[in-house]
Amino acid sequence: MAPLIYSGLLSIIITLSALLQPPCAAHINACRSFCGNITIDYPFGLQQGCGHPGFRDLLFCMNDMLMFHISSGSYRVLEIDYAYKALTLHDLHLSTCETIVLGGKGNGFDVEPWRGPYLAPDSDNVFMLIGCSARSPLFQGFPEKHLPCRNVSGMGCEEYYRCPAWSLLGAQRIGSQGSVYGSGPPECCALPFEAVKSINLSRLECEGYSSAYSIAPLRMEGPGDWTYGIRVKYSIQSNSDEFCRACEATGGTCGYGGDGIRQLCIGFRIDQGRKRKMELDEYINRSASDLLICTG
Ligand SMILES: *[C@@H]1O[C@H](CO)[C@@H](O)[C@H](O)[C@H]1NC(C)=O
Ligand SMILES: *[C@@H]1O[C@H](CO)[C@@H](O)[C@H](O)[C@H]1NC(C)=O
Ligand SMILES: *[C@@H]1O[C@H](CO)[C@@H](O)[C@H](O)[C@H]1NC(C)=O
Ligand SMILES: *[C@@H]1O[C@H](CO)[C@@H](O)[C@H](O)[C@H]1NC(C)=O
Repeated sequence: MAPLIYSGLLSIIITLSALLQPPCAAHINACRSFCGNITIDYPFGLQQGCGHPGFRDLLFCMNDMLMFHISSGSYRVLEIDYAYKALTLHDLHLSTCETIVLGGKGNGFDVEPWRGPYLAPDSDNVFMLIGCSARSPLFQGFPEKHLPCRNVSGMGCEEYYRCPAWSLLGAQRIGSQGSVYGSGPPECCALPFEAVKSINLSRLECEGYSSAYSIAPLRMEGPGDWTYGIRVKYSIQSNSDEFCRACEATGGTCGYGGDGIRQLCIGFRIDQGRKRKMELDEYINRSASDLLICTG
């Protein structure tokens, strides 16, 4: 497996360098790419070995549609916001103001434990769980203890019930239980991701879910104005960031090794001037990592 990845990367570099004059010039990003109109750049990558290892095997481009794949399922990526380090995802079975999707078909949101430090829904993102059973872990201790349900950034179920989707579902269904907690669990329970750490519809025994987010400081009038989708923040440790900045400063491209753990600087031989060559040497020593140097 590993030699394949290495030789794959090498062939990318050799192919790229063969196209360029002079061969092996600096400042070529071997990993930046596009899917539809979305730019894929560090820490993400579409090819094996590109980007940060925390985001490996995460993004896939299919017919110009960028897909995000984690343990809870596949989502379409609508946007990558590199300035705010966030991705906006859409789940095919996400309920919105117009439609409520029941039957437990939705993905929810859950990542592999090793990915946890790198990806988590934004704290301003509200998850609204719909039709959860009275036996749901959400309602353990109900009604004596407090429900975990609450508003998130001004968004919650009381307002969500005003959406047309709920009247289609049948007014009496919420009429009896919706905003009154007296007779049973609420038909909808809103919470931030941190409250449960995993939105798993089968574990939470819920029939469906919605997710919406706000980008401050926009004041939203009602649920019809909310943006439906899952806003996910990504993060990388600062030492990884330093590694990458140092790599880019020497004309390299940030990637990772065949082990899927170690960061790698994909470099190019620098012919112009001694100073840059020195920087590369220093870099190799400091990071103690591999540096692939094109042999053009
Ligand atoms: C990308 O294309 C989609 C339609 O395919 C469009 O809705 C969206 O606004 C475009 N995004 C950017 C950043 O141009
Ligand atoms: C969701 O929960 C169910 C039941 O507890 C479990 O079988 C399944 O593996 C979980 N899904 C994920 C993505 O963790
Ligand atoms: C959420 O906010 C609404 C007002 O917008 C309020 O009526 C409701 O009680 C709040 N719900 C919770 C669970 O705090
Ligand atoms: C890098 O390490 C080698 C061997 O340890 C040493 O000879 C060389 O001077 C170092 N280069 C720089 C630029 O520090």
